[in-house]
Amino acid sequence: MADIDDVKETKNFFVDTPASHEGFYLKGAHQLDWGMRNRLARIFRPESGRTVMLAIDHGYFLGPTTGLERIDLTIVPLLKYADALMCTRGILRSTIPASFGSGVVMRSTGGPSTLKELSNEQIAVDIDDAVRMNVSAMAVQVHIGGEFETQTVHNMTRLVDMGLRYGVPTMGVTAVGKDMARDARYLGLATRICAELGAQVVKTYYCDSGFDTVTAGCPVPIVMAGGKKLAELDALTMAYNAVSQGAAGVDMGRNIFQSDAPAAMIQAVGKVVHTLMPPKQAYDFYLTLRGEHDRALKKK
Ligand code: R5P
Repeated sequence: MADIDDVKETKNFFVDTPASHEGFYLKGAHQLDWGMRNRLARIFRPESGRTVMLAIDHGYFLGPTTGLERIDLTIVPLLKYADALMCTRGILRSTIPASFGSGVVMRSTGGPSTLKELSNEQIAVDIDDAVRMNVSAMAVQVHIGGEFETQTVHNMTRLVDMGLRYGVPTMGVTAVGKDMARDARYLGLATRICAELGAQVVKTYYCDSGFDTVTAGCPVPIVMAGGKKLAELDALTMAYNAVSQGAAGVDMGRNIFQSDAPAAMIQAVGKVVHTLMPPKQAYDFYLTLRGEHDRALKKK
């Protein structure tokens, strides 16, 4: 018990200074619970309000995707450059060091492989396990316009309900089927539905025209999906355009881990996302890091 003799009695309640009602730096998150905001802050850097999320969850329907055959060898060395990692619980438990301190966005739906109808997904993780693994968010595929549209929306709303109970955000991932146009109208529809139905973060593709209307129309942060492998300068340009038009960062997979120099690429993406470094300059930065890496390898 504290000593109560000679206790200093002078107190200062700063009565003339109103208590601050601090907002929160992420769109749509200012009225969320503390735990949920804390988890979001592990994904989105407070200084920039953006994230470089590394997506490596492809195996949940594609199996051993090129670049992800040995996650322990190719991905673990990249973790120090990622603000967040998107992966399955199988990879998290088996391969990702528990000392990884940044955000984990856990793939929480699945079911069909690439050989079947992909929209026929179910919830694949119990909220107890998400909490047990201390994840920062759960990711759910939402197939607007897909054959099992309602089922995937229902997967999302159930995860949102469970997540709200425990302070775990849900990221709605808009899946674009082969026959769907990746235009602002479609992406605006899909992202808005995810946010309206409770997702605290939405992941979607970039489109060349009107992407700013997609981000503006979505009341929660949007992270840009990478998509198929592009030339490095093109991928950096796409990331630059997306964040310039309101994306709160990227969730990129193949454009990082299938790059000739993944460590250089993820750092260049980081420059674009967090400092809005112009794409050509970020590409030069990538080439410099790649050159240093190649020279270090030759010396060995
Ligand atoms: C997409 O819906 C899944 O989450 C993917 O496995 C992942 O996001 C794809 O990343 P990328 O298209 O950048 O390789």
